[in-house]
Amino acid sequence: LNDVASDLKQVLFTEEQIHEKIAELCRRIEADYADEPPLLVGVLKGAVMVMADLSRELKLDAPQDWMAVSSYGSGTKSSGVVRILKDLDADLTGRKVLIVEDIIDSGLTLSWLLGNLRSRGAASVEVCALLRKPDAAKIEIDVRYLGFDIPDEFVVGYGLDYAERYRNLRGVGILAPHVYS
Ligand code: PRP
Ligand code: MN
Ligand code: MG
Repeated sequence: LNDVASDLKQVLFTEEQIHEKIAELCRRIEADYADEPPLLVGVLKGAVMVMADLSRELKLDAPQDWMAVSSYGSGTKSSGVVRILKDLDADLTGRKVLIVEDIIDSGLTLSWLLGNLRSRGAASVEVCALLRKPDAAKIEIDVRYLGFDIPDEFVVGYGLDYAERYRNLRGVGILAPHVYS
């Protein structure tokens, strides 16, 4: 995991394990969208790595679009009130949309995003997320394509950051407390 291995308490998933899981998810997505490729909607910035690997593994001619959102509020974690920093370029009317996310933590970001995208007249809106923290859920998200459930710990790597660091790690690990205490 690059040269910051000592900042991690534990490696949860290696690059190989992530790629295997993404390939599994891609086979299901290919079967489900055989009629019409979905519009892949990535949520900046965390989803960048999942989007890069998933979209290249997918044997479908699926276009990409991106949104950047930010939660209002005190700062620590999402409040559920979301502001659009960068909107989609695409018109969703009649489109099959597949949201690509790195992680579902409280679920508040995706809950808001699902409502927002559905209100734009998409034919369908589904979710693909690499990680989910079931014990952190404040709201249940119906996630069609899920990689792994993980414990409610501070995880970084493969797009996930701590203060914008560690996104470039090839695997996913639990951040060591000495880094943030
Ligand atoms: C993280 C993560 C998800 C969201 C999940 O993004 O990438 O988008 O939080 O949290 P939730 O389920 O509690 O809403 P973040 O807001 O840190 O922005 P980033 O993707 O740019 O790191
Ligand atoms: Mn994010
Ligand atoms: Mg973040």
